[in-house]
Amino acid sequence: MRTGGEFLFGPSNGVLMSYDRLNIALVGAAGLVAAPAHLNAIPTIDRFNLVALCDVNADAVQALASERGVGKAYSSYEELLADPGIDAVDLVTPPFMHAEMAIAAARAGKHVYVEKPMARSLGEARAMVRAASEAGVRLMVGESYVFHGPHLVARNLIEGDAIGEVVQVRQTRGPWLFNEAENERLGGRGHHIAWRYDPALSGGGDFPWMMDHGPHFFATARLFNGMSAIERVNALPHPHGEGREAHLRGITSVTWMYEGGEVDGLWMQAETAPEAGRYVGFRTEIVGARGTILVFGEGGGSAPGYPQVAPVTLYADGTEKTFDPGEGDDRSWSSNNSYYDRAHGNALRNFACTVLDGMPPRYAPEDGVADLTATLATIKSAIDGRPVALADVPEDWTAYQAD
Ligand SMILES: NC(=O)c1ccc[n+]([C@@H]2O[C@H](COP(=O)([O-])OP(=O)(O)OC[C@H]3O[C@@H](n4cnc5c(N)ncnc54)[C@H](O)[C@@H]3O)[C@@H](O)[C@H]2O)c1
Repeated sequence: MRTGGEFLFGPSNGVLMSYDRLNIALVGAAGLVAAPAHLNAIPTIDRFNLVALCDVNADAVQALASERGVGKAYSSYEELLADPGIDAVDLVTPPFMHAEMAIAAARAGKHVYVEKPMARSLGEARAMVRAASEAGVRLMVGESYVFHGPHLVARNLIEGDAIGEVVQVRQTRGPWLFNEAENERLGGRGHHIAWRYDPALSGGGDFPWMMDHGPHFFATARLFNGMSAIERVNALPHPHGEGREAHLRGITSVTWMYEGGEVDGLWMQAETAPEAGRYVGFRTEIVGARGTILVFGEGGGSAPGYPQVAPVTLYADGTEKTFDPGEGDDRSWSSNNSYYDRAHGNALRNFACTVLDGMPPRYAPEDGVADLTATLATIKSAIDGRPVALADVPEDWTAYQAD
């Protein structure tokens, strides 16, 4: 139930929230990867009522609504948008639908939470921001890496001057690659979904995996350097290889400069073999003038069957200190580094607070645009075979219709 309250957020066109809780609908609810995380997280957040599920798969969404005790099941998004009992939509649909769905929701007066990648072009992304602003609704991109507990611990250490000025941010990622055993364990969840390797549906052209994951890398890169803008990127394209995992391998290293040119960063894809025991999954080293932080992200830590490593380790002053935000284990990965469902839940809670309490979002729509720009620049760099400045990504440029 919603309860009455003061008007806390008052945009110009009269779409006002006056409630303690937001009535939210999950769209793409029968999906395999993001949807389960959102379905698990939303009921744990006391600022939401999960009032409806929507998916084009009518049977699946009906069954899911019964199973989860959600009152309404829609197979038509248009009908859902006409429902006055819904305040906000949570879009966990594939990227090619994000812009159209977000803009339609905003025009229907619904607040919008949309999974990354925000859109497939800067034009689409900026149209989303404009539509939300014109309708006076909140728009937030679900960039869960920015809300991941260990990442936040590392960011707080950096902000508390634990390592001095940041000099370089180095990322390595992750067990989805070159690792059929891990793919088998996850039941092919993720990679083998058709839109994920389709040039236009993913938005990534010949580099769909980078389109899907690039926003995470750049959001993380900025998180660990005071959210500074990235100025230019250089990608190393890689022969695609053979087999069903080929689409994952288009770009295997990326380097970037932050604005101002004094700090740089890099991302490398090659995975530590599970037999190595440790240091699998997403991890970042933040090298500062006086120390280094090692932090594990999604699926990061030890390989299945090996003792877990600490989510965060600070190396400074000749000592080694470990930190654990205490968010528990992960549901998808064999890791003590909770990502599914906690990072998603943390992000969704922030969204609820931005709508209900008028709080500034921790990850603003402009952040979504910035990380999409860096991702598109990365793909453009791989295509053009040279470094690309983010300022040189045209508004209407897409990776799947690239010259
Ligand atoms: N933040 C993260 O860590 C994270 C993790 C996984 C996925 N994602 C993002 O979430 C999004 C979804 O990814 P996924 O792997 O869960 O996708 P998925 O293919 O498993 O699920 C998408 C769902 O959307 C449904 N759908 C398609 N068209 C629809 C329509 N018109 N109306 C209603 N439902 C419709 C499909 O039937 C499907 O059930 C992508 O943008 C992806 O990048 C983010």
